[in-house]
Amino acid sequence: MSEDTVTITPLLDGPNQVSGGVVVTDEAGNVIKEADTVFLCRCGFSANKPFCNGAHKREGWTSN
Ligand code: FES
Repeated sequence: MSEDTVTITPLLDGPNQVSGGVVVTDEAGNVIKEADTVFLCRCGFSANKPFCNGAHKREGWTSN
């Protein structure tokens, strides 16, 4: 894998972990976060979308 490779890992009963130098933008293309790794909500319960805020645990969300 090259250094530019981005890896997306769906965590068990949790968010998608995105690693490899990530830039997250809003709908208008404005940068809202730059990081080596981010955790993106996939349960739909986060109050801080697109990021995971741990709400999946409180809601008992499961990925299976
Ligand atoms: S995956 Fe964590 S709040 Fe949605």
